[in-house]
Order: sequence, then C-alpha cells, then structure tokens
Amino acid sequence: NASIRYENVLVSRPDPAVALITLNRPKALNALNAAHFSDISMALKEADENPDIGAMVLTGSDKAFAAGADIKEMKDKTFSEAYMSNFLSNWEVISKLRKPVIAAVSGYALGGGLELALQADILLAAPSAKLGQPEINLGVIPGGGGTQRLARLIGKSRAMEMILTGRIVDAEEAERWGLVNRVVRDENGVVEAAIKVAQDIAGKSRVAAAAGKEAVNAAFELSLAEGLRLERRLFHSLFATKDQKEGMMAFAEKRQPQWTHS
Ligand code: CAA
Repeated sequence: NASIRYENVLVSRPDPAVALITLNRPKALNALNAAHFSDISMALKEADENPDIGAMVLTGSDKAFAAGADIKEMKDKTFSEAYMSNFLSNWEVISKLRKPVIAAVSGYALGGGLELALQADILLAAPSAKLGQPEINLGVIPGGGGTQRLARLIGKSRAMEMILTGRIVDAEEAERWGLVNRVVRDENGVVEAAIKVAQDIAGKSRVAAAAGKEAVNAAFELSLAEGLRLERRLFHSLFATKDQKEGMMAFAEKRQPQWTHS
C-alpha cells in the first residue's frame, strides 16, 4: 500500500476497496491536537481521492475513539489566536468528503471526539461507547459542530441536556436516541462490523453512492422543495451513467451487476 505514513494515525486496507483509519495517540486517549487532526483529515482526504477506495472506516482504540480536542494545547489560546487561525476550521475538510465514512466508536467519544464521529455518515458503537459534550465543564461550548449536529440528530431537548450538563451517554441510550445507528454486541466487534458495512457500500456503484450521500446531506442544508429538486436532478443524471444501464440490465438478466463506477 503506497499510502503516506502519518504520525498519529494508522492507515490500512482490510479490503482493497476499504480504507481503515485508526486514530493512534494512545497516551492522550486520542485527544485531537493540531498535528493529530491534520493527520486525520489528510488520511481521510487521501482515501477519498483514491479511485480504488469505495468507503472509509474511522476508529480509535478500545478505550477511546477520541477524548476531545487537546485541552493542554488549547488552554492558553487567546481569542485573537483562536479567531485569526480560524481554530477548528479544518473540521470542514471532513464534512466535504464525497465517499461514505463509517465511524466505529469504542470507549470515550467526548467533545471534539464526538463531533468527529458525528461527521461520519454511519455511526456504529461498541457496548463500551461513552458519548458526551463535556465542554461546559471547561467553561466553553462545542466548537466542532456539536450544537448543530446533535440538535438535528437527537432533537433540541436531548442536545440541550448533553451540552448544558455535559452528561455522558452510554451506548444503549445513544442507540435509543438515534445518536448511533446501532450498538454492535457480537464478538467480532465494532470495527469488523464497520468494515462489513464499508465493504457492502464499496461493492455498489460509487457514482450512485456519491449521489446518495450528496442528496441526504442536502436534507440538512436545503428547504424540502429545494432538496426534492436536487434529489430529482441527481436521480435523472444517473441515467447518464454506465452503472445505471448495467444495474438495470443485470436485474432484467437475473445476474449480479458488474459496476465500472462510471
Ligand atoms: N486533552 C488533552 N489530554 C487529554 C484529554 C484531552 N481532551 N483527554 C485525556 N487526556 C490525557 C490526560 O490528560 C492523561 O494524560 P497524562 O497521563 O499525561 O495525565 C491521559 O490522556 C489519560 O487520561 P486520564 O488519566 O484522564 O484517563 P481517565 O481514564 O482517568 O479519564 C476521561 C478519561 C474521562 C476521558 C478524561 O481523560 C477526561 O475527562 N478527558 C477530557 C474530556 C473532555 O473534556 N473533552 C472535551 C475537550 S474540549 C473540546 O473537545 C472542544 C471542541 O468542541 C472541539
């Protein structure tokens, strides 16, 4: 694998079409300092741009997906430094990825760690997962999208409770709230389950998968009428792809489609 090597992130290919990106700063429970965050966003971007890859899995360690932004690194920042360096703006790199990202969360996903997981398209949790926005206990609020994404995902009052009390939610409650797709309780574990979902997605037409992701994400940005129009146009445009012809022909001929991602 000709992948770039990163200091704080391990990149592997459990399947030729799947990139597994593992946060690897164990001494600080994967706290996200500038170098770590830059490695994560670059590794994801590299996988996103690699034509052999169809989906990415993002995970941490058994103990922590990520325990948040690095408090030691940011504690002495002044307003001007935070503002002028546009602190946390590299978060946007991840929200612009075009290929599906599955997050596999074990242990702590706190603060910026939960916000990172919330950027994924599909979120699977181990029974050990502990999710929270404890920034209030540090005298701040979430700065990586937590207030907006949680409110949309689990509703106003649950988001308020998490953000205003800092209460940490366990895997079961997160599943009940729809904060995660599901808790993976089988013995192969959450990373293996996430790889399976990624393999499943990577085995579809990548053009159709990208269009599906774009359309669902538009639901969070556009009015219903505009979103429906975008969906319809994307749907129409897929009739210009070879994969649409192949997919529908394969159905009619009762065989598996051979996608060319074109
Ligand atoms: N930043 C920097 N270092 C961190 C860290 C963080 N967010 N979280 C953990 N660490 C470090 C600890 O300082 C400790 O380092 P030392 O051994 O050098 O002291 C090491 O990781 C292990 O942590 P603990 O000894 O604390 O482990 P624990 O099992 O007792 O507790 C924990 C685990 C409950 C997750 C605890 O570490 C904790 O509360 N961490 C901070 C969580 C937090 O507040 N996150 C939000 C950060 S703010 C933010 O993310 C802003 C944003 O919106 C982007």
